[in-house]
Order: sequence, then C-alpha cells, then structure tokens
Amino acid sequence: MSVKVSKEFVQGLPKAELHVHIEGTLEPELKLKLAQRNHVDIGQSTIQEVKNSYKFTDLTSFLAVYYPAMNVLETEQDFYDLAMDYLHRAAKNNVRHVEIFFDPQAHTSRNIPFETVINGLYKATVDARALNIDARLIMCFLRDYSRESARKTLEESLKYQDKFIGIGLDSDEHNNPPMKFFNQFTDATTHNLHITAHADIDQKNSIEHIRELLEVIGTERIDHGTNIVEDPDLVEYAAKNEIGFTACPLSNSFVSPEMKGKEILELLNKGVKVSIHSDDPAYFGGYISDNYYALAKNFDLNKDQIVQLAKNSFETSWISNEQKALYLKQIDDYVRVNE
Ligand code: ADE
Ligand code: ZN
Repeated sequence: MSVKVSKEFVQGLPKAELHVHIEGTLEPELKLKLAQRNHVDIGQSTIQEVKNSYKFTDLTSFLAVYYPAMNVLETEQDFYDLAMDYLHRAAKNNVRHVEIFFDPQAHTSRNIPFETVINGLYKATVDARALNIDARLIMCFLRDYSRESARKTLEESLKYQDKFIGIGLDSDEHNNPPMKFFNQFTDATTHNLHITAHADIDQKNSIEHIRELLEVIGTERIDHGTNIVEDPDLVEYAAKNEIGFTACPLSNSFVSPEMKGKEILELLNKGVKVSIHSDDPAYFGGYISDNYYALAKNFDLNKDQIVQLAKNSFETSWISNEQKALYLKQIDDYVRVNE
C-alpha cells in the first residue's frame, strides 16, 4: 500500500498530546537507572530482560506488568526525571501542548506522599516551557480502587489545585463503571476542574460506560472510547457536542487485531473530534508520531485526514480559545510550507 504521508511530515506537524500516562513513559533505561539509584530489586538487570517482561494481551495483563514497574519511583527527583524524559521525546515529536495523566494512588498506596509525586511532575511541566511545550497535569483515579480512596485523593489534591487542570479515570474497567465515581466527578467540576475518563477498548459494558460518561456524568472527552461506533445515535450526540475522543492506535494493536483503525476513521468521517495519542509509549512501542504514522500507513490516510486529527487534538484540549487559534494557525502555516 502506498503511504501518502511521510514520517517526517507527521513528526514535524504541531500536535497536542492529551492521552499519555506519565508512568507509561518509563523507558527500560530509566527504569534500570532508578532501580539502581534507589536500591530497588526489580527482578531484571538488563534492558533486554526488562523488555522481555513486557508481555500482555489485554488490559489486565498489561496492568499486571505496569504497576510493579512503578516501585522504582520514590523521590521528587525521580518523578521529575520521568516527566523530563518524556518531555524531551515529546519535543522531538513537535508536541506543543500536553495534558499528562498521573496516577497518585499508584504511589500513595506504596507510601510515597502525594506531595512528592505532584511536586516532581509539576516542576517538570514548568521546565517544559524551555522546550517550547505547554505542559499540564491531569490527576486520574484508579477505578479498581474504592470510591472512598478516590474521595480522599481528591480532597488531598485540592491543596495543590494550581498544579493540575483536570480529573481522569483509568486502570481496570472490568466491573468498575464510570458511575462508581459520579460524586467525585461532580465534586471535581464544582472545583472548576475539567473531566475526562477512559472507556477502554472492547470492555464488557463499553457502550453503557460511554453512555454514562456522555449522558449522565458529562465528561468533556473520552479516552479511547471507539466502541461508541456501536451506537449511531451516541456518535451523532458526540459530534454535535464536540466531545473529544483520544485514540491510541499502537496501544489498541495490543488488544485488538486492527488497532481500531476503521472505527477511528469512521468517527473522523462523521465529524467526531477524534485525535491520536500515545497512551503508554514505553510499553506499546512508540511515541505520538509513531501512532499517527502507524494509523496513516495501515489505513491509507491522506494529508487532510492527518491534519484534521492534529487540529482535533488542539480543539479538544483544555486551553483558551485564543491559544487554540494560535496553535491551529501553526498547523496551517506548517501545512503551507510542507505542501
Ligand atoms: N493506565 C495506563 N494505561 C491505561 C489504559 N490504556 N487503560 C486504562 N488504564 C491505564
Ligand atoms: Zn490510557
């Protein structure tokens, strides 16, 4: 199949990244370095051994590898290093704006203070300005933890409200519907926090979870969420209300044979604000440009489609309309000189 869009074009295109878990950017090299620095036995001592441990076929088996890896993260410096490592890669991918997920409960449950996590990550977002990246944080609740744990986490986070812009929901969706956290989402919005949530690929009740998110909770975006194509009325609702869908082709390819490319294109064609992101790039084999390119190559996307995906990423980001206009102009300028 001919590829209509070069890797260089995709790499240089200004992009917003709205679906990246900072813990999922922990590359084997940094993992080993931090394990040594903190004297943590991770059971692997070479990069190849770490890579060999990355074996998963679904969300549950992925999470079983993912959480133990976080044991190497202990100090504020560790969280700073993790985020800076990602931000340098994001800069190479011409990411101009990023809203980074972090999972405080995955750390507070190991007795790492909330303050340590958020201060290290936040410091990196400040230093991202030197890389020409506007970086923000989104705090996620782990949906397989209790409501009470989410409530306490939200309460504690409000002491640091100037350091993050919104709330997300991630981890194991099985038997953990969005409505479990209805009160926490409502509380978050009363504190002027934005809200988004994962509706992972092909879950037991995907379409019901998506319906709850759109019609009852009212999230501004849905992370993944491509199962919405099963319900044309909901697709129409999402298009009309400009709900963002943050798709991640490479991570999809670990749990579904065709990276949900057809569904992503269907949403794009129907005017839904779907966009492309990297999810957990250290685990799923590529950063944001690799995700764009994998989709373009496998589904024969043209330049207009790629550009629309990038525009959607800024349009559904949580920045001001003035900032959006500036970034959209940067895309238009880029396309003009790369005709
Ligand atoms: N945590 C990190 N990546 C995730 C994903 N793709 N789905 C749910 N939780 C996650
Ligand atoms: Zn995710």
